[in-house]
Formats: sequence, structure tokens, C-alpha cells
Amino acid sequence: MNFNAGIPQRPLAPRLNAIPREIVAACDYEAFARSRLDDNAWAYLAGGAADELTLRDNQEAFRQWRMNNRVLADVAGGHTRLTLAGLDLAHPVLLAPVAYQRLFHPDGELATVIGAAAMQTPMVVSTLATTPLEDIAQKAQAPLWFQLYMRRDRAQARALVQRAEAAGYRALVVTVDAPLAGVRNREQRAGFRLPAGMRAMNLPPDMPLDLPGPAAGSSVFDSLMTQAPTWDDLEWLLGVSRLPVFIKGILAPQDAQRALAAGVAGIIVSNHGGRVLDTAQATLDALPAIMDVVGTAVPVLLDGGVRRGTDIFKALALGARAVLIGRPYIHALATAGALGVAHLVRLLREELEVTMALTGCATLEAINREAIIRGQGN
Ligand code: FNR
Repeated sequence: MNFNAGIPQRPLAPRLNAIPREIVAACDYEAFARSRLDDNAWAYLAGGAADELTLRDNQEAFRQWRMNNRVLADVAGGHTRLTLAGLDLAHPVLLAPVAYQRLFHPDGELATVIGAAAMQTPMVVSTLATTPLEDIAQKAQAPLWFQLYMRRDRAQARALVQRAEAAGYRALVVTVDAPLAGVRNREQRAGFRLPAGMRAMNLPPDMPLDLPGPAAGSSVFDSLMTQAPTWDDLEWLLGVSRLPVFIKGILAPQDAQRALAAGVAGIIVSNHGGRVLDTAQATLDALPAIMDVVGTAVPVLLDGGVRRGTDIFKALALGARAVLIGRPYIHALATAGALGVAHLVRLLREELEVTMALTGCATLEAINREAIIRGQGN
């Protein structure tokens, strides 16, 4: 049932062509985005699974750590550069795959890629993008990775992989933590639906997006999960892809171990921004046990709740090579399009630089476990 049916929506604020003075941190974009998005888009963007405890915990986990403030270190000439999957990057922040970006801005992914190019930030393009992946690659020179949702139908996955390779994408990200949507209560209460005419442009128009729900009398195991990928499908993908494959949605060290053995190029510790399995562990809390298993074998990335330069620093101190951000850049996209996205990334990079300077770390390699202290919480 759509509880908003019949309730008039408030008028939406216009998008901005310049960044207002008040926006000085990533979190400042949220309120600006709220007044530019209708209740339908907001429920989809802001919501998490069920009671949204994991959504909250992702951010809370960063607050449990304190910085080890170090003085008088010579950090002149320091920088935030790194290499990742063969790419030279200016900073360790990537744009996470977020579906249906035309819900948030009329240009959708085309605005995001311009912002990403301006900051030389890798953009991970979702399988569920509202723009053909080739058009995104044509639009601007950002490093691009393609995020793949697999089903057991391998022909579909193979076609997407080949298109991404041909269009110049540099890596694949296979998302494994959302074989079904989970319990999306906030979306259900808002009666969320895609606006008429909006669809996942990289999939055939006749492909049902949400697999049919459990038919009366049948369980998810006999319906949805019969199409869900398994470790066999991951191994198949690793065999057919010419691009490095990152696996996204790992929280358990046992799964990290198995992904490593299968031959992935990298692991993304993620719980899908708290959107699929509520009360799953916060990503920062899950990271140390995964690092124990992975060590330096492949790069480990993390997303979920990253909102500050100090958050990026803490993830790196616990072993991550880089982080991805989801909702924050969508807030910036909804507020000011490409300009907002570029500005948001710049704010985060500058905060990271300040944090490094004040902890005596001239390079990302210098950030280690001694740079942070388990704190007293809030
Ligand atoms: C997502 N995420 C996601 N992940 C993915 O692999 N494919 C996708 O299509 C989407 N779509 C999507 C839509 C929306 C609206 C959100 C908020 C998130 C998950 C995303 O890549 C990332 O894991 C989280 O967003 C990270 O958490 P934060 O930064 O939003 O806290």
C-alpha cells in the first residue's frame, strides 16, 4: 500500500549551479538533497533494511575510534596517492555503485561521471544504471569500474562483462550480498516505485527487475533463491573476465578466504549500506578479522558510513587500501549535479589530508594501526 497516496508533495527546491557557503562538509549535503528529492526517491536513497540498525551502526563504528594526535612530524611533500588494480589514483576515495541515478538528478550517471572525472575518482557504475554503460564511458574521462549483479543466467552476465571490457572499463565489481532485496520496510511504507519510463538501461527492456516474489505456497528458497548466484558462478566469472574482479559484500572472514582461493583481485568489505540484512555487522567492525585472513594478498576496500576524512583514515589504519562512498555523493548529485559530486570528493580528500598532517602521516602507507586508539564511544 502507498501511504503517501493522496498526500500532496511539497514543492522541490531547484538544483544549484554554485556551491553555497554553508556546505563545508559532506554531511551538509544531506539536508540540501532532502529538499530537492520527493518522498519516493528519498525512501529509496535513505532507507536501510528492517529497523535500520546496521545502517546506523556503519557510522557509529567509526565513532568508536579516536585519533592518535602526533606533533612536530615533517610531512612536507606528503600526498594521498596510491595505485590500485593498475590505476594511479590521486586519493583513496571511489564512488560506490548506486542504482537508478536519474531518480536523483535528470542527468543521472552522466552528471556523476563528470564530477568523478574532475576529481580523477573511480566511479563504479551499477548494473542498474539508468544510462547505457557505453554512454557513461563516452561522457568523461573518469576511471570506470563496472558493478555486476549475477544471476544463474550466465549469458546475461557474459554480455555485460564483454560490453564493459569493450567500453574501456578497468575492473569488475561483483556484488554478492544482495541476491534478494532484503526486508525494505521504509521503501514498502513509502510505496516506493520507479517513476514511469525509468529503467535499468543496461538490461534488456523485457527483463523483470525484481524476480517474482515467493508465489503463494512457495518459499524464497523455491522462488527467488533458485536464480541467485553461487560460488560456482563466481569461479565461472573469474574464468571469463579479462578485467580484475573485485568481490563486493564480504563481511565474514570465511567468505574472504574462499574468495581469495577463487582468485579475486580484491575484496570490498560491505553490507550494501545496511540495505539488505539488518543487524549484520558494521563494516569497520568486520574489517580487522578480514585483514587477518587476507593480509597483503589482495587489496581490501571498505564502504558503509564513510562521511569524514577521519573515517577514511580509520578504515586505512585498520587495513583498507581505499574506501567507497554511496549516499554522500548522491546527496551532492541531487543538490548540484556534477559540481556537487566533485566538490564532495574534494571536501573528503582535504579532510583526509588534514587528518594525515595532524597524525604525522605523510603518505597512505604511513597510516597504520598505531595511528588510532579504540575510544570510549560517544
Ligand atoms: C546502493 N548500493 C548498491 N550496491 C551495488 O553493488 N549495486 C547497486 O546497484 C547499488 N545500489 C544502491 C542504491 C542506493 C540508493 C544505495 C544507497 C546504495 C550499495 C552501495 O554500493 C554501497 O555499498 C553503500 O551505499 C555504502 O554505504 P553508504 O556510503 O551509503 O553509507
